Formats: sequence, C-alpha cells, structure tokens
Amino acid sequence: MNALKDNVDFEDNDLIGVPASHLDPKVFYSNAPILKDAPFLNSLIKNPNHIGCHTLGNSEPFFKGTQEIERDLIDICATDILDAEPHSCDGYVASGGTEANIQAIWIYRNLFIREHGAKHDEIVILCSADAHYSMYKAADLLHLDIELVPVDSLSRKPEKAQIAAVVEALAARGKKYVISVVNMMTTMFGSVDDPDDFVHVLREAGLPFKMHVDGAYGGFLFPFMCDENPLSFANPDISSITLDAHKLVQAPYGTGIFISRKGLMKYVYTSEASYVKGLDATLSGSRSGANAIAVWMILSTYGPHGWYEKSQMLMMRTNWLCEKLDDMNVVYYRNPFSNIVTIQSSPELLKLVGRFGLVPDSHNNGAKWYKIVVMDHVTLDKLAAFLGELEDELAKGIN
Ligand SMILES: Cc1ncc(COP(=O)(O)O)c(C=O)c1O
Repeated sequence: MNALKDNVDFEDNDLIGVPASHLDPKVFYSNAPILKDAPFLNSLIKNPNHIGCHTLGNSEPFFKGTQEIERDLIDICATDILDAEPHSCDGYVASGGTEANIQAIWIYRNLFIREHGAKHDEIVILCSADAHYSMYKAADLLHLDIELVPVDSLSRKPEKAQIAAVVEALAARGKKYVISVVNMMTTMFGSVDDPDDFVHVLREAGLPFKMHVDGAYGGFLFPFMCDENPLSFANPDISSITLDAHKLVQAPYGTGIFISRKGLMKYVYTSEASYVKGLDATLSGSRSGANAIAVWMILSTYGPHGWYEKSQMLMMRTNWLCEKLDDMNVVYYRNPFSNIVTIQSSPELLKLVGRFGLVPDSHNNGAKWYKIVVMDHVTLDKLAAFLGELEDELAKGIN
C-alpha cells in the first residue's frame, strides 16, 4: 500500500500530460469494501503503467513507488533463486514466458549483428526438440533459422553426439553465430538440459554463442529441488533466464519474468521511444504494474522456506503417483525434480484422457504421450481417482 502512495494518484493532482488514468470508475469502484487491505486489487484500480525496464536506472517518475517493487522482485528472482551476484542483472515482468524468450533472442540477434557484423542468415537458434514453440515464434519474427537437436524418446535428453552432429551441419551450412536455448524443465516432459553439453560442443566448433535458459515452467521449482543448479547465473556461460510466475507460482496471467546479466538490454533499446523517460528496452511497451505486485506478494508471503515446503508437497504427491504407476507397469517419463508425469499413450489411457483432462504432446497427429501436472489443486484424492480408473481399464485389457 505504501508503494502505491509513492505513485501519482490520477484523482488527486493536476497531471494532464499522460495518456493514462485509473480504471473506469463507473465499472470499477475505487471505494468498494473489498479493496480495503487488498494491495493487488488496489493496484489494479490505480492502474500504474510500468512501461520500460526499471533496473536500468532511469524510468517514468509517475509510478516510482510500484517500480521499486518490481526492481525488488527482479532482484529476489535473480539473486535468491538464480544465484546471481546482487545488482548484477536487469529484468522486467513480461506478458509471459513467450515474450521473455523472444526478448532474449532479440537481444542476442542484435548483439551478433552489432558486435560481429553478423548477417541474419549467419545466426541460428539452437535448442532441443522438446523446446517450447515460442522459439519458433522468435525465429519467425526475428528472421532467424532454428535448428532442433533430436532427443532420446525415453530419456528426453539431447545427447552430446547429436548436438555435435547438428552443430557440424550448421557450420557447413554457413551458420557462424549461435543463440543456444536450454531448458530448465520442458513443457511436455519437465526434462532439463545439460548446458555444459551444448557449451562444450559449441566451443569445440569455435562458434561464438550466447546461452538463454527457458525456465518458464521450471524456474520456480528446479532451483529449490536440486542441490546445485547448472542453469543459474552462477554458470558464467548463461546470459539470461526466463521465469513464469503465472504457472507454478499461481500468480495472475501476465507475469512472465525476463532476467539478463547487466550490459545486454542496450541491444534492444528503441531510441525512437523518446517520449518515455528512460526509453524502452522491452518487447511489451505499456504493461500493468499490478502484475509485479502480485508476484512480489506471493514470494514475500512464502519466503524461501515456505516455498521449499510447498514445492516438497508437490514432489511428495508426484512421487506417490509414480510409485503407483510403477506398481502397474505403466511407462512414463519423469524428471526426479519435477511435478510433471508424462505417460506413454495406450488404449487404456486413451479412455481416461477426456475425463481427467490429460494433455497430449500433439492434438494433430496421433499423440504419443499424455501429461499429468501435479499442481496445487491436484490432490492425492484426485490422483487416486485417476489411478483407480486406470487400474480398472488395464484389468479389462488383460481379461
Ligand atoms: C518451457 C516453456 N516455455 C515457454 C512457455 C510459454 O509461456 P507463456 O504461455 O506464458 O507465454 C511455456 C508455456 O507453457 C513453457 O512451458
């Protein structure tokens, strides 16, 4: 509530120059009792615009109170979750994981062009076949080629020999600069890439590269579950990371988080954004300050131990589900640090897909896998109901 007091209040001053205001008062009452002691709802009504990137030092003065919360949120994510040195990163709250991934690829494309004189067709996005489709959007928007490293069908791992073969072929096709995107839990499998495999191959090939981590799914889980995270800023080869609070953190939609090491945002400054104080180095333009507040409130309410406890509860349920699937000899993939269980398709499983909302790897061409994501609402009771029906179907199949 104090942060909002440090913003301008549109109702209460002579501000006439900005094309912005509080939410429409006929529809959204600013004096509704529900708003008392509800900072997120209040910030929605007050409607601060967080246009620009506020870790860079120069921002619109009107919303400085809530921008400070966003800066603090970026610092918590970068240092407490992703092992960065304090104040060594920039970042902002993006519309989602898609935008944060595109932001990263945009930065590196421009870096290669500006620093190395690269041509568009000499730059390539390299990622595993299980990477999110936002990499294709980035490739399309930024006029870049994209190359996928195949993964083993059961381990979901892009093997080092495969990476080497793909990189050799890329070099032969005239690709000279690589934007490498590695996964901190993939969408469909929760699988995690080994960044060192990619780094080793790219160094051997002598190709300059920049590495981005897509932690849109796993960024708020994997760092809490593993003892040492190879996909954090403690790894000097990693330049930027995407997180997404509207997945596991249960924040409102519009809470992707982009974080990069300092010195990189300059490659996407739009100098024509001259009416915005501090210019704009983000893909979004205008965006709601309420989103940063929502994520900050959730993380501050839990603290690191509370968050670890909550994550462990999801792990416990996932472990339990996997034990039961093992007893039933069902084939599935699960990364031990993740809450996604991806089950190989079978006639028995197919009968349960609609009822339990299991998500396929493909809606178009014959799904091979269906996933269960053990979220907060996916209780043992719900998992037990699924397992019971699967067991019945399997028994019918045998008899
Ligand atoms: C690994 C990964 N990256 C990126 C995204 C895209 O996130 P959003 O839908 O928030 O844009 C997702 C979404 O599921 C994801 O799982």
